[in-house]
Amino acid sequence: MRNVHRWKFSGSAMTRRKPLLVLLAIVAAMFAALQLIRPERTNPPVDPSMRIDAHVTVPPDVAAILDRSCRDCHTHETRWPWYSHVAPPSLLLSRDVREGRDELNLSEWGEYDEETSDGQLEEICTQVREGNMPLLPYTWMHPASKLSAADVTRLCDWTERARAEVAARAQADEEGPN
Ligand code: HEC
Repeated sequence: MRNVHRWKFSGSAMTRRKPLLVLLAIVAAMFAALQLIRPERTNPPVDPSMRIDAHVTVPPDVAAILDRSCRDCHTHETRWPWYSHVAPPSLLLSRDVREGRDELNLSEWGEYDEETSDGQLEEICTQVREGNMPLLPYTWMHPASKLSAADVTRLCDWTERARAEVAARAQADEEGPN
Protein backbone atom coordinates (compact mmCIF):
# COMPACT_ATOMS: atom_id res chain seq x y z
CA MET A 1 0.00 0.00 0.00
CA ARG A 2 2.82 2.37 0.87
CA ASN A 3 4.67 1.51 -2.30
CA VAL A 4 1.66 2.20 -4.47
CA HIS A 5 1.24 5.57 -2.82
CA ARG A 6 4.84 6.51 -3.54
CA TRP A 7 4.52 5.41 -7.13
CA LYS A 8 1.46 7.52 -7.62
CA PHE A 9 3.25 10.52 -6.17
CA SER A 10 6.25 10.30 -8.46
CA GLY A 11 3.91 9.64 -11.38
CA SER A 12 2.12 12.91 -10.90
CA ALA A 13 5.45 14.76 -10.63
CA MET A 14 6.40 13.34 -14.02
CA THR A 15 3.14 14.50 -15.51
CA ARG A 16 3.75 18.00 -14.24
CA ARG A 17 7.21 18.10 -15.84
CA LYS A 18 6.10 16.71 -19.15
CA PRO A 19 5.18 19.96 -20.92
CA LEU A 20 8.62 21.37 -20.13
CA LEU A 21 10.34 18.25 -21.46
CA VAL A 22 8.29 18.37 -24.63
CA LEU A 23 9.14 22.03 -25.10
CA LEU A 24 12.86 21.32 -24.59
CA ALA A 25 12.69 18.49 -27.09
CA ILE A 26 11.04 20.77 -29.65
CA VAL A 27 13.65 23.50 -29.13
CA ALA A 28 16.46 20.94 -29.43
CA ALA A 29 14.95 19.53 -32.61
CA MET A 30 14.58 22.99 -34.11
CA PHE A 31 18.18 23.83 -33.24
CA ALA A 32 19.35 20.58 -34.82
CA ALA A 33 17.28 21.24 -37.94
CA LEU A 34 18.77 24.74 -38.24
CA GLN A 35 22.25 23.19 -38.39
CA LEU A 36 21.24 21.57 -41.68
CA ILE A 37 21.37 25.02 -43.28
CA ARG A 38 25.04 25.31 -44.19
CA PRO A 39 25.70 28.86 -45.34
CA GLU A 40 28.53 29.43 -47.76
CA ARG A 41 31.85 30.17 -46.11
CA THR A 42 34.11 30.63 -49.07
CA ASN A 43 37.27 32.62 -49.56
CA PRO A 44 37.66 32.98 -53.33
CA PRO A 45 41.30 33.09 -54.47
CA VAL A 46 42.95 36.51 -54.27
CA ASP A 47 44.99 37.97 -57.10
CA PRO A 48 47.57 40.22 -55.38
CA SER A 49 47.48 42.64 -58.31
CA MET A 50 43.77 43.25 -57.62
CA ARG A 51 44.18 44.03 -53.94
CA ILE A 52 43.81 47.62 -52.73
CA ASP A 53 47.48 47.85 -51.76
CA ALA A 54 48.46 47.25 -55.39
CA HIS A 55 46.51 50.38 -56.39
CA VAL A 56 46.94 52.93 -53.61
CA THR A 57 49.53 53.28 -50.87
CA VAL A 58 48.37 51.54 -47.70
CA PRO A 59 50.82 52.32 -44.87
CA PRO A 60 51.39 49.47 -42.39
CA ASP A 61 49.42 51.07 -39.54
CA VAL A 62 46.39 51.59 -41.84
CA ALA A 63 46.75 48.04 -43.15
CA ALA A 64 46.69 46.86 -39.53
CA ILE A 65 43.40 48.68 -38.82
CA LEU A 66 41.79 47.34 -41.99
CA ASP A 67 43.03 43.87 -41.14
CA ARG A 68 41.73 43.99 -37.58
CA SER A 69 38.37 45.66 -38.23
CA CYS A 70 37.28 45.32 -41.86
CA ARG A 71 39.00 42.33 -43.43
CA ASP A 72 36.52 39.66 -42.35
CA CYS A 73 33.64 41.24 -44.31
CA HIS A 74 35.31 43.31 -47.01
CA THR A 75 37.94 40.98 -48.46
CA HIS A 76 38.17 37.45 -49.78
CA GLU A 77 40.46 36.71 -46.83
CA THR A 78 37.78 36.23 -44.19
CA ARG A 79 38.83 34.50 -40.97
CA TRP A 80 35.72 32.43 -40.39
CA PRO A 81 35.24 32.25 -36.61
CA TRP A 82 33.98 29.23 -34.62
CA TYR A 83 30.47 30.68 -34.47
CA SER A 84 30.33 30.69 -38.26
CA HIS A 85 29.79 26.94 -37.88
CA VAL A 86 26.74 27.26 -35.63
CA ALA A 87 23.33 28.45 -36.83
CA PRO A 88 21.82 31.00 -36.37
CA PRO A 89 24.98 33.17 -35.91
CA SER A 90 26.49 31.49 -38.98
CA LEU A 91 23.54 32.67 -41.08
CA LEU A 92 23.90 36.28 -39.95
CA LEU A 93 27.65 36.34 -40.47
CA SER A 94 27.60 34.74 -43.91
CA ARG A 95 24.97 37.25 -44.99
CA ASP A 96 27.06 40.16 -43.68
CA VAL A 97 30.15 38.87 -45.46
CA ARG A 98 28.25 38.42 -48.72
CA GLU A 99 26.70 41.89 -48.56
CA GLY A 100 29.91 43.44 -47.24
CA ARG A 101 31.94 42.07 -50.16
CA ASP A 102 29.27 43.24 -52.60
CA GLU A 103 29.44 46.80 -51.27
CA LEU A 104 33.18 47.11 -50.83
CA ASN A 105 35.79 44.51 -51.69
CA LEU A 106 39.38 45.33 -50.83
CA SER A 107 40.49 42.12 -52.56
CA GLU A 108 39.00 43.24 -55.89
CA TRP A 109 39.91 46.90 -55.76
CA GLY A 110 41.45 46.63 -59.22
CA GLU A 111 37.95 46.36 -60.66
CA TYR A 112 37.02 49.86 -59.48
CA ASP A 113 37.45 52.68 -61.95
CA GLU A 114 38.75 56.06 -60.81
CA GLU A 115 35.35 57.41 -59.85
CA THR A 116 34.34 54.31 -57.91
CA SER A 117 37.69 54.16 -56.08
CA ASP A 118 37.27 57.77 -55.06
CA GLY A 119 33.71 57.16 -53.88
CA GLN A 120 34.67 54.03 -51.92
CA LEU A 121 37.53 55.83 -50.16
CA GLU A 122 35.25 58.71 -49.26
CA GLU A 123 32.61 56.25 -48.03
CA ILE A 124 35.14 54.42 -45.83
CA CYS A 125 35.82 57.65 -43.96
CA THR A 126 32.12 58.52 -43.73
CA GLN A 127 31.10 55.07 -42.46
CA VAL A 128 33.74 54.90 -39.74
CA ARG A 129 33.25 58.51 -38.70
CA GLU A 130 29.54 57.88 -38.28
CA GLY A 131 30.31 54.75 -36.30
CA ASN A 132 28.42 52.48 -38.74
CA MET A 133 31.45 50.27 -39.37
CA PRO A 134 32.54 47.75 -38.29
CA LEU A 135 28.99 46.43 -38.19
CA LEU A 136 27.49 46.10 -34.73
CA PRO A 137 27.00 42.41 -33.92
CA TYR A 138 30.54 41.84 -35.20
CA THR A 139 32.09 44.18 -32.65
CA TRP A 140 30.31 42.31 -29.84
CA MET A 141 32.04 39.12 -30.90
CA HIS A 142 35.32 40.85 -31.80
CA PRO A 143 35.87 43.66 -29.28
CA ALA A 144 39.35 44.33 -30.69
CA SER A 145 37.75 45.41 -33.97
CA LYS A 146 36.19 48.50 -32.37
CA LEU A 147 37.79 51.67 -33.70
CA SER A 148 39.25 54.26 -31.36
CA ALA A 149 38.92 57.97 -32.16
CA ALA A 150 42.58 57.84 -33.22
CA ASP A 151 41.84 54.92 -35.60
CA VAL A 152 39.01 56.91 -37.22
CA THR A 153 41.25 59.96 -37.67
CA ARG A 154 44.00 57.79 -39.10
CA LEU A 155 41.65 56.10 -41.57
CA CYS A 156 40.21 59.44 -42.72
CA ASP A 157 43.67 61.00 -43.14
CA TRP A 158 44.63 57.99 -45.19
CA THR A 159 41.51 58.04 -47.41
CA GLU A 160 42.18 61.74 -48.06
CA ARG A 161 45.71 60.98 -49.21
CA ALA A 162 44.63 57.92 -51.19
CA ARG A 163 41.97 59.95 -53.01
CA ALA A 164 44.60 62.51 -54.00
CA GLU A 165 46.75 59.62 -55.25
CA VAL A 166 43.85 58.28 -57.35
CA ALA A 167 43.18 61.75 -58.80
CA ALA A 168 46.87 62.35 -59.60
CA ARG A 169 47.14 59.01 -61.36
CA ALA A 170 43.98 59.71 -63.39
CA GLN A 171 45.35 63.06 -64.44
CA ALA A 172 48.69 61.55 -65.41
CA ASP A 173 46.83 58.94 -67.48
CA GLU A 174 44.84 61.68 -69.19
CA GLU A 175 47.89 63.73 -70.09
CA GLY A 176 49.52 60.52 -71.20
CA PRO A 177 53.05 59.97 -72.42
CA ASN A 178 52.32 61.08 -76.00
C1 HEC B 1 30.54 42.08 -39.93
C2 HEC B 1 30.87 42.48 -41.25
C3 HEC B 1 31.44 43.84 -41.50
C4 HEC B 1 32.56 44.42 -40.98
C5 HEC B 1 33.50 43.84 -39.95
C6 HEC B 1 32.70 45.69 -41.64
N1 HEC B 1 31.69 45.87 -42.53
FE1 HEC B 1 31.44 47.42 -43.79
N2 HEC B 1 29.70 46.63 -44.49
C7 HEC B 1 29.16 45.43 -44.09
C8 HEC B 1 27.88 45.24 -44.76
C9 HEC B 1 26.97 44.04 -44.58
C10 HEC B 1 27.67 46.35 -45.57
C11 HEC B 1 26.49 46.64 -46.49
C12 HEC B 1 25.26 46.93 -45.75
C13 HEC B 1 25.35 48.15 -44.91
O1 HEC B 1 25.76 49.21 -45.43
O2 HEC B 1 24.99 48.07 -43.74
C14 HEC B 1 28.83 47.21 -45.38
C15 HEC B 1 29.01 48.42 -46.02
C16 HEC B 1 30.16 49.18 -45.94
C17 HEC B 1 30.42 50.35 -46.71
C18 HEC B 1 29.44 50.99 -47.65
C19 HEC B 1 29.92 50.85 -49.04
C20 HEC B 1 29.10 51.76 -49.95
O3 HEC B 1 29.61 52.08 -51.00
O4 HEC B 1 27.98 52.14 -49.58
C21 HEC B 1 31.65 50.81 -46.36
C22 HEC B 1 32.39 52.01 -46.93
C23 HEC B 1 32.16 49.92 -45.36
N3 HEC B 1 31.24 48.94 -45.12
C24 HEC B 1 33.37 50.08 -44.74
C25 HEC B 1 33.82 49.28 -43.70
C26 HEC B 1 35.06 49.53 -43.00
C27 HEC B 1 36.03 50.67 -43.31
C28 HEC B 1 35.16 48.57 -42.06
C29 HEC B 1 36.24 48.44 -41.02
C30 HEC B 1 36.50 49.58 -40.20
C31 HEC B 1 33.98 47.70 -42.17
N4 HEC B 1 33.21 48.19 -43.18
C32 HEC B 1 33.74 46.59 -41.40
C33 HEC B 1 29.73 44.53 -43.23
C34 HEC B 1 30.88 44.77 -42.47
